[in-house]
Amino acid sequence: MEEITIEKLPGVGPATAEKLRDAGYSDVMSIAVASPKELGDAADIGESTASKIIIAARKAADVGQFETGDVIFERRMKLGHLTSGSKSLDELLGGGFETQSITELFGEFGSGKTQIAHQLCVNVQLPVEKGGLDGDASYIDTENTFRPERIKQMAEHLGLDASETLKRIHVARAYNSNHQMLLVEKVKELSKEIPARLLIIDSLTAHFRAEYVGRGALADRQQKLNKHMHDLLRWGDLNDGVICVTNQVSAKPDALFGDPTRPIGGHIVGHTATFRIYLRKSKGEKRIARLIDSPHLPEGEAVFSITREGVRD
Ligand code: GTP
Ligand code: MG
Repeated sequence: MEEITIEKLPGVGPATAEKLRDAGYSDVMSIAVASPKELGDAADIGESTASKIIIAARKAADVGQFETGDVIFERRMKLGHLTSGSKSLDELLGGGFETQSITELFGEFGSGKTQIAHQLCVNVQLPVEKGGLDGDASYIDTENTFRPERIKQMAEHLGLDASETLKRIHVARAYNSNHQMLLVEKVKELSKEIPARLLIIDSLTAHFRAEYVGRGALADRQQKLNKHMHDLLRWGDLNDGVICVTNQVSAKPDALFGDPTRPIGGHIVGHTATFRIYLRKSKGEKRIARLIDSPHLPEGEAVFSITREGVRD
């Protein structure tokens, strides 16, 4: 279905459209669900004009239909699962990293977020019988921690050709949060040409955290992150792909969020990510993963290892 642009709404000229986009109202749906006060403040327009725009947006938005549980069940049965390399971690996730969902890995430095991300880039290329999705990976790298050497090691231990494996991983550095968001558009374009089944954002939150400092910036940051997460989910839906994002949290209480098991990005990331895994270090190569707030799986923990070969039980 053709999406209509926000300029098509009566009362939205180019200047208003630009202000709305800057404030994160980039599609008709986001306007349809806004309040007149929010929208008015965002676009410097009166509340009554904002109300009219909202009413028009509600008429234009594709609100969707109700569907019955069995139809949803059937669709969910078709979702793919990507193996992490560890049986216990896969089991914790109900069979692996699920397609059309965002899985958020959060934990302190060295807890294994980047290692798992690398392993997924290799595993996604495996055939379905071996836990893969027979597809390519895209990797948005914000911290310059993508290491082809590590991919080679992991690929060789799975009996894959290392240089062929590297050719199917498409990496881009993101230099700031806006760049990071724009790169998702690039990934969407690239995915028309390749069988893309995995998208990594490592780290999802580092740029946002560095750029939006203090309580005053919190609302802006959450709004941007919210849009970013929805863009990611849309890619996942279009490509039946796995989305895996990382989020560093300190093991010490955080001034803004307190509990270290409540990651930066707070509620927005938490509510959009379908699977959230809290990672912590244990003895040596051992790591402990805890599944938090899943809509359909019990909370639980899994122990896995990061070895020379990669992620293992
Ligand atoms: P930050 O990005 O700093 O927040 O950390 P992270 O969670 O991404 O950590 P990362 O995944 O980079 O984990 C790094 C850890 O993985 C190292 O401290 C090692 O313990 C382990 N590791 C990395 N490479 C190897 C390897 O080749 N062999 C083994 N055995 N362990 C490795
Ligand atoms: Mg990392």
